[in-house]
Amino acid sequence: MATLEVADLRKQFSIGRPAIDGLSFAVPAGEIVVLLGPSGCGKTTTLRCVAGLEHPTSGEISIAGHVVSSPERGILVPPRLRDLGMVFQSYAVWPHMTVRQNVIYPLKHRKIARADAGRKVDEVLELVGLSEYADRPVVALSGGQMQRVALARSIVYRPQLLLLDEPLSNLDAKLRLRLRDDLRVILKQTGMTALYVTHDQAEAVVLGDRIGVMRDGKLLQIGSPDEIYNRPADLFVANFTGATNELIGTLVERSGGFGVVDFGDGRRGEVALLHALNLGDKVRVALRPENIAIGKQDGVNIFPARVVDRRYQGTQTVYDIDLFGRRLEVLELGTAARHQVGVETSVSLPREGCWAYRDTGPSSYD
Ligand SMILES: Nc1ncnc2c1ncn2[C@@H]1O[C@H](COP(=O)(O)OP(=O)(O)OP(=O)(O)O)[C@@H](O)[C@H]1O
Ligand SMILES: [Mg+2]
Repeated sequence: MATLEVADLRKQFSIGRPAIDGLSFAVPAGEIVVLLGPSGCGKTTTLRCVAGLEHPTSGEISIAGHVVSSPERGILVPPRLRDLGMVFQSYAVWPHMTVRQNVIYPLKHRKIARADAGRKVDEVLELVGLSEYADRPVVALSGGQMQRVALARSIVYRPQLLLLDEPLSNLDAKLRLRLRDDLRVILKQTGMTALYVTHDQAEAVVLGDRIGVMRDGKLLQIGSPDEIYNRPADLFVANFTGATNELIGTLVERSGGFGVVDFGDGRRGEVALLHALNLGDKVRVALRPENIAIGKQDGVNIFPARVVDRRYQGTQTVYDIDLFGRRLEVLELGTAARHQVGVETSVSLPREGCWAYRDTGPSSYD
């Protein structure tokens, strides 16, 4: 049985379009599910509905098999009775208290014997790597350490579900990466069920057992990171997870999971078909910058191209190439920038990495 079940959830604020529009998903016990999507897509509203801080317009939310919210049935369990922990973007710690006082606070409210409480606090401080800092005032900590305190405080009473709303976004880049990696280890060690929301795709991949991609209050796809990255359900998911290049054409052949697209002027390429398309359909082909190879002469989908710009980034180089009159980005790993701007060369587009989707009008990449 899943720890969290959300069924056909809707939230309509007094103004604007629905913030959440028919959202359904489950978080199985012990799993980390990450909701990933751009600003305004409804991530925080979803978390707040699960927490009971926001009242949904319709739909049902169940935690550990108990319905905690169902406007249709007149059920609305208050937040404090939902047995969950929350970690927010801002460091929600009490500045006038020490680390230990912050972390023990929720246990006092739960009337847990002092010796037990002390042991639980020690355990959880060890887990988040703050044992040495137990008696420091939290104002004397770094941002990353404060966020560890917030995390410790929300898991010390072992809630059945942990909700995290972009907990790393206030940290500087280096700390963010460290805590991101640590967070997964910590959550997995506790065996906690967690719902984590972010707009950062790298965070989603590292942390999530499953990722749900949201847009405009709707869930577009939910699956393992591998599924989301290698079989994106639609163009938005492909773009949002980094397949930022697009070619436009017409589907002219189809067999099994692959097809042939005419890109105009008789230039044809083989593509992967991840969803049903008809011959003659106008398609957009999404491609990851790291899946395009410059200078390769053999294999399928070899086309002449020109290097028009390059940006050396130390451990990788990003090139802009002109292909069929469109600008594509190509990323090459390595500390050497191998191609000169202005050269006429060839590129190879592996067909497994060319995903064709029905063209439903201009996208942000036109
Ligand atoms: N109290 C409110 N009243 C009216 N509209 C709201 C309210 N809270 C949120 N919204 C709207 O609901 C939509 C979803 O907001 P939400 O905060 O859930 O987005 P988000 O995905 O968390 O974005 P971000 O990544 O910027 O945090 C937005 O269009 C927002 O303007
Ligand atoms: Mg938000």
